[in-house]
Amino acid sequence: MAKMWGGRFEGEMDERMWRFNASVDVDRRLALVDVQGSVAYARALGRAGVLTEEEVEEIVAGLEAVAKEFRAGTFTYQPSDEDIHTAVERRLGEMIGPLAGKLHTGRSRNDQVATDVRLYILEEAAAMGRALREAQEAIVAVAAAHLDVLMPGYTHLQPAQPVRFSHWLLSFFWMLQRDRERLRDLAERAAQCPLGAGALAGNAYGVDREALAEELGFRGPTENSMDAVSDRDAVLEMLSWGAILGTHLSRLAEDLILWSSAEFGFVRLDERYTTGSSIMPQKRNPDSLELVRGKAGRLVGNLTRLLVTTKGLPSTYDKDLQEDKEPLFDTLDTLDDLLAIVAGVIETIEVRPERMRAALDDAMLATDLADYMVKRGIPFREAHGLVGQVVRACEEAGVGLRALPLERYRAISPVFDEDLYSALDFEASVEARDVTGGPARTAVEAQLEKARAALGT
Ligand code: ARG
Repeated sequence: MAKMWGGRFEGEMDERMWRFNASVDVDRRLALVDVQGSVAYARALGRAGVLTEEEVEEIVAGLEAVAKEFRAGTFTYQPSDEDIHTAVERRLGEMIGPLAGKLHTGRSRNDQVATDVRLYILEEAAAMGRALREAQEAIVAVAAAHLDVLMPGYTHLQPAQPVRFSHWLLSFFWMLQRDRERLRDLAERAAQCPLGAGALAGNAYGVDREALAEELGFRGPTENSMDAVSDRDAVLEMLSWGAILGTHLSRLAEDLILWSSAEFGFVRLDERYTTGSSIMPQKRNPDSLELVRGKAGRLVGNLTRLLVTTKGLPSTYDKDLQEDKEPLFDTLDTLDDLLAIVAGVIETIEVRPERMRAALDDAMLATDLADYMVKRGIPFREAHGLVGQVVRACEEAGVGLRALPLERYRAISPVFDEDLYSALDFEASVEARDVTGGPARTAVEAQLEKARAALGT
């Protein structure tokens, strides 16, 4: 097979080794950014006086014809195509002849692949940002439509204090908001152009790296040629971003899986996002959300995979780095599905306020009872202990806080009075918490406003 680097070799490569070494099946996804990088590089060679103006135009036209084949799906890969870079160059040669051989002057696949991957990350970051936003919009719409719904809030999965359903849902809005901010941050850092770093020691033909970077839409060139070809932290950041986002989506999924169970029944998932059982006719399973939860493991795995691959590598390029693309593509594909599925599940979810209301237990008002005592001058720690006694008395009597007679309250503390019963109200409990970021109606309304502002809607 004709190899781009075959000059110093006498014989053929072992066939299995050829397949083992080749990456074109994976990195063909970089086809268009690879061409884009080559077009800019041809122009840079022209500016540096390595290529004449006519040569640049011929190469650029050839590259555009290659890109056209990629777009039309008519590009034919050959068995000799080791990776996307050699495939493009091979095809360019078929189209424009030996002049194609001048394109790689001073360039290495090392700076080429690092550039391609960053261009790809920048494109994908923009698309992922849009998908994230759609999930956030679904959250805002459903939260706004259910402002009146109260539900139990949990810590340790034990009933804790009443909150608004919207407040719970919006908690995920802010997690996704930070994910969107992280995405912008990582894209900004990724926007440095490695091209011109060569194999490791830079470019001997005087290419203007600033102009190259600008032409490709980067903020500027990378500052060190060895760093440029060694490092994969732009990929690692994307993978860790994906792992964090996946973890957020997984926790949202877990809450909803639990709440859609018969025992909770707080929500019902739309048929479009559930599946049946092959043996139990009554079943409606939350497979959509279980997969959202399950795929978080995959996203964390992708990050782990590349961290482990890169940790012990000597500077600069090592072929191990070729392993960066599979996890990157897989994380992006996985999240593309996850975000759309999560948005769909939320948009179509049936909220069941009566079931949430029924799950509100008097014991969740114990904190409010302590607050009642605090307002009457009892130090909080003491109030906490006295309310603990009230709760025990309730348990003994087999009644809730609201059904315990006043004498029993007064036997525990004389500050209790008839008005304690009006403090024992779920709505009042939620409304008392009208701090910024709290579950009171006005606070949640303000939160919704901020959420909308963050989306620019
Ligand atoms: N396919 C390679 C990769 O993805 C391209 C860079 C190859 N560089 C080299 N020196 N063999 O990493």
